[in-house]
Amino acid sequence: MPTTVHALQGDITQLPVQAIVNAANAALLGGGGVDGAIHRAAGPQLLEACRQLGGCTTGEAKLTLGYRLPAEYVIHTVGPVWHGGDRAEPALLAACYRRALELAAAQGIRSLAFPSISTGVYGYPLALAAQIAVSTVRAALKECSGFDEVIFCCFSASDLQVYQRLLAAPPGAKPAPI
Ligand code: AR6
Repeated sequence: MPTTVHALQGDITQLPVQAIVNAANAALLGGGGVDGAIHRAAGPQLLEACRQLGGCTTGEAKLTLGYRLPAEYVIHTVGPVWHGGDRAEPALLAACYRRALELAAAQGIRSLAFPSISTGVYGYPLALAAQIAVSTVRAALKECSGFDEVIFCCFSASDLQVYQRLLAAPPGAKPAPI
């Protein structure tokens, strides 16, 4: 069965999926944005588990349980800070999506939701980041077939519009200018 890949607007901490991805920082000890929301919803055991992980480099991903979340697992990844695009930001952002999917596949996870990594505090332009998110996930899913569903969880209606436009275009199509 092909994987369903779609976007929705919502709070990722509420989604009934097997795993959610956290847009964390290198310390993996919590923060603002989606990271703060995930830690609040999961409860203090998540911070305890994260302390054992020894941090995470940009573009890498690490796994914990989800504790009080509906999701069984959290995959913590660290997106790049946007510096204008010439400090390997696209490759590092793509690595976040790829590594998260690889880790999920290795764990036998079948449904996974991503936030829009790096597009909040880290300042990555949403339209550029969304293109990388969608194309990287599509490419990675060709390698691992074990997923039923991959969700792009958008916090705002305008972010959702961007993702939906990209997902409506056939894979490999050049997105029309916004
Ligand atoms: N559900 C889904 N998406 C959300 C939620 C939520 N509950 N809350 C925010 N977003 P950000 P980053 C969206 O800043 O840019 C933290 O302090 C948000 O609108 O959370 O990767 C970490 O500790 C945006 O579209 O992550 C790091 O220090 C997206 O999530 C730093 O921020 C990502 O925004 C990471 O920055």
